Amino acid sequence: MSDADLRSPLMCVRNVRKSYRSGGGMLEVLRGVDLDLEPGAFVAVIGQSGCGKSTLLP
Ligand SMILES: Nc1ncnc2c1ncn2[C@@H]1O[C@H](COP(=O)(O)OP(=O)(O)OP(=O)(O)O)[C@@H](O)[C@H]1O
Ligand SMILES: [Mg+2]
Repeated sequence: MSDADLRSPLMCVRNVRKSYRSGGGMLEVLRGVDLDLEPGAFVAVIGQSGCGKSTLLP
């Protein structure tokens, strides 16, 4: 792996929004989420149940 590869994010997530239909309305789960995954990094997404972790990580 080159130095450039090590500096570049493996995956970039920018300004993600996600809402689900819920009852008669919409449930906004994610708004304005940014995430950079670096090569070789160990990443954990932490938050209370229902905050949108699984929604963010397909
Ligand atoms: N397919 C769906 N339709 C409607 N609402 C959904 C759907 N999937 C998730 N939700 C709602 O979106 C919110 C976020 O859900 P999500 O599963 O992403 O949370 P989570 O952080 O992974 O929770 P947990 O820690 O319990 O796994 C919750 O309020 C959940 O009820
Ligand atoms: Mg989950």
